Amino acid sequence: MSWESEEKEKGFTRREWVRLGMVAGAVGAVGSLAGLTLGQVLPPPYKFSGEIRETIEYTKFPTPQWWNAKAGTAVKMSDFQVWQGATGVWRGLFREGKYVPGTGFPCLIIRIKRENQFFRVPADNEMPAPLPEGFSLAFDDPLLDAANGGTRIVVLFDRCVHLCCYPGWHVVSNPPPGRGYADYGASPPTFDQFGQDPIYCVCHGSQYDPMVLVVNTNDKNGARYVGAWRVHGPAPRALPVIPVKAQGANLVGGMPNPAWYVYC
Ligand code: FES
Repeated sequence: MSWESEEKEKGFTRREWVRLGMVAGAVGAVGSLAGLTLGQVLPPPYKFSGEIRETIEYTKFPTPQWWNAKAGTAVKMSDFQVWQGATGVWRGLFREGKYVPGTGFPCLIIRIKRENQFFRVPADNEMPAPLPEGFSLAFDDPLLDAANGGTRIVVLFDRCVHLCCYPGWHVVSNPPPGRGYADYGASPPTFDQFGQDPIYCVCHGSQYDPMVLVVNTNDKNGARYVGAWRVHGPAPRALPVIPVKAQGANLVGGMPNPAWYVYC
C-alpha cells in the first residue's frame, strides 16, 4: 500500500490538510475582492458593514470536533476540559450574526494544566510591549473548575511562522509529530511532564509548546513579541500569543502590537 493510501485509510491526511489551508486562503482572497464586477478597473469605495467582534468566537473545523456545533458563538472559559483545545477567530467580521470567512485572526484556544511550576512567561522587564489594560498572556482562574486545579487558557495566533499553514491542537496525528528529546532537542513540559503533544503544524512538522511563553523577534519586521516556544522546526521562532481577559463568561482578545501578527 502506498504511503498516501495508507494515510488515507487512517483518516485525515497531510495532503488534505494542506489543501484545506489553501481553500481557507482563497476564501479570504475572494472576500477581499467582494464588490468587483466584470469590466470594472477600480473597485468601488469600500463599504464597511457588520461588526468586528473582540470576543473570541468558535470556528467550524473541517473534521468532526467537539466545538463544531458552537461555531459562530463566543468562546466560554468553562467550555474546556484540561488539555482540550478549539479553533476560533478574534476580531472576525460578523454580518447579520454570521461570521464572514477569511476575516479576523484565526486562533487556537487551549486549556493547559494549571501547574505554576511548569508554566513560564517572560518577566515583566523582558516584556516587549505593555499589554492593553486588564489583559494577560493567559486566562487564569484558580476557582474555575477548582477540583481540577483551576483553569488556565492560552490563545495563540493560528498561522505557522514557517510558511503560514494552520497549526492544530490534537486534531491531526498522521503523520505523527516528532516526539521526545531526539526530535525536540529540548524538554517541553507539555510533552515531558504531561505526555501531551505540543501544538503541531502538520504541513512540515513544526511544534510549539503552549506552556512556555517566550520573547522572540518577528523576522519580517523586527518586532519583539511573546509566543509559544518553538520546540520543533522548521519554524524558526515562537507562535505569537493573543492576550486575553474575561468578559463575563467569555474570552476577549486585546491587541498588544499589530506587528506581532504580520508575517503571512
Ligand atoms: S507551514 Fe507550518 S511547518 Fe511549514
